[in-house]
This record gives sequence, structure tokens and C-alpha cells, in this order.
Amino acid sequence: MAGDALITIAHISDLHVGSQYFIPNLMSRTIEELNELKPDAVICTGDLTNEGFRQEYTTAQTFLSMLECERRLYVPGNHDSRNVGYLHFEELFGQRDNVMTFDRVVVVGTDSSEPDLDNGRIGRERYGWLEDAFKDNCDSCFKIFALHHHLLPVPGTGRERSMIHDAGDLLEVLIRSGVDLVLCGHKHVPYVWRIENLVVVNAGTACTLRLRGNTKPCYNIIQIEKNDRVKIFRKYPFGSLELIADFSCDERKYCKWEKVEASALTGGGLL
Ligand SMILES: [Fe+2]
Ligand SMILES: [Fe+2]
Repeated sequence: MAGDALITIAHISDLHVGSQYFIPNLMSRTIEELNELKPDAVICTGDLTNEGFRQEYTTAQTFLSMLECERRLYVPGNHDSRNVGYLHFEELFGQRDNVMTFDRVVVVGTDSSEPDLDNGRIGRERYGWLEDAFKDNCDSCFKIFALHHHLLPVPGTGRERSMIHDAGDLLEVLIRSGVDLVLCGHKHVPYVWRIENLVVVNAGTACTLRLRGNTKPCYNIIQIEKNDRVKIFRKYPFGSLELIADFSCDERKYCKWEKVEASALTGGGLL
């Protein structure tokens, strides 16, 4: 997947518009920071709304329409599928299963939610589609899979009930498909795991105070450099930047929670 251009992808999650814990100022700030960063794509891993109500969706759309980045991929979360909210998702944000390709990246996003349940699944019936989506669109590209629920358990999330029900089977499908990076949200606790050659990154909530323990609102920035070195940063709106993973596609090596200056982002361009 070698290429010359630096690719920057923003990963936001769990906006929960409509929740009493949603902080509009954090949402606006996140959008302002992303407009300053000018990413090549924005991926949002669900829970755009709190109850799946239409008015929550339209408010989320109003905020997200302020993003200057045109290339966006959204997947629904469990909260978006409450109250038949998936109909509003489809109307206002597009298909629940998506493929996006650009430069040397392919992103496959899938709806892991089930109506009115907090648990999630992908399901055997979609494994073939998923494998084909990676193979047919760009087999030599950097491969990203996006879903709302957890693929792996995340520390600091309390009693484990957040992983998709078919996590083991899906893991095998993703590894067999040569997926490089998985992006998730859901429990609002940011984390990064590596399993085999797969890096699994959870985002926190970007703009709510629905927090667990000492976590803070945050989002992720992924940079794929021209030598195929990948750096993943965690950014706190109004706050600091941390390097959470740093690897080449051949040799994964981690630096978790290293505080860095904004200039650590290649190209700078962050408030
Ligand atoms: Fe959430
Ligand atoms: Fe969720």
C-alpha cells in the first residue's frame, strides 16, 4: 500500500445528541479542531443520538454538517437503533453498512446494533459480504473496519457486556481479510489493543459527560505516513494530544499514552 501522501483520518464516536450529558460546546470545539486539522476522512462509530428520535438526528446532522471534511462514514450505535431510529439514520446519514475507499485506504463500516437492545452482533450472514468488501475494493490498501460495539474487552468498563456476540468469529474473518485497524466506540472508554497483526482502537465519547471512572471526552486521529508507518493519537477537545499507537504495517510497536505536543502530528494544523 506504499504511497507518497500523508493520510489523516479522524475517528469520533458517541455524540449522544439529546442526552442530558451532551455538551454542545464540546461538540462545536471538536468540529472546530477537525476543521483546523483538515483530515482526509472522518469516521463516526455510532451513538450519534441518545434515543434514536428524529429531532436528535436532525440536531446531530446540523452539528455534523459544520464539518468541512466531505468524506465521512457513519455507522449506527445501539442508542441510534432505539425507537426505530435506524430509519432516521438511513434517511439522514445513509446506509448502515458502508464501504469507503480513497487514496490507499479502504474502510468498511457495519451496523452492529439490534433494535432496542444494547448488545451487538455482526452475524454470520454478513461475513461473506465483509470479506468481499475488503477483497474487491482494494486488496492492497490499508484496511479499516468500523463498528460501534467492542471487538475486544476494554479495561475500566465495568461488567463485560459490550462485546459483539460473535466477536471470536468476526476476529477470525478480519484477520483472514488482512484488516489492519478496527475502530469502535460504545462504552466511552478509549483504549488500544493489538491482536496478531490487527490493531483495535476504541474511541471515547467526543462531546458528552457520560464518562466512566477518570476518562475524559476525546477522539482519535490516525495518520498513515508515506512509509506506511501508522500513528494513532488521542485528542482531548480543548486539551492535550497523546500518542497511543505507533507501528509500521510489518512491525507493530506500541507507545501507549505518551503525551506529545500538537506539532507531533505531521503537517501540524491542530488548534
Ligand atoms: Fe455511547
Ligand atoms: Fe453504545
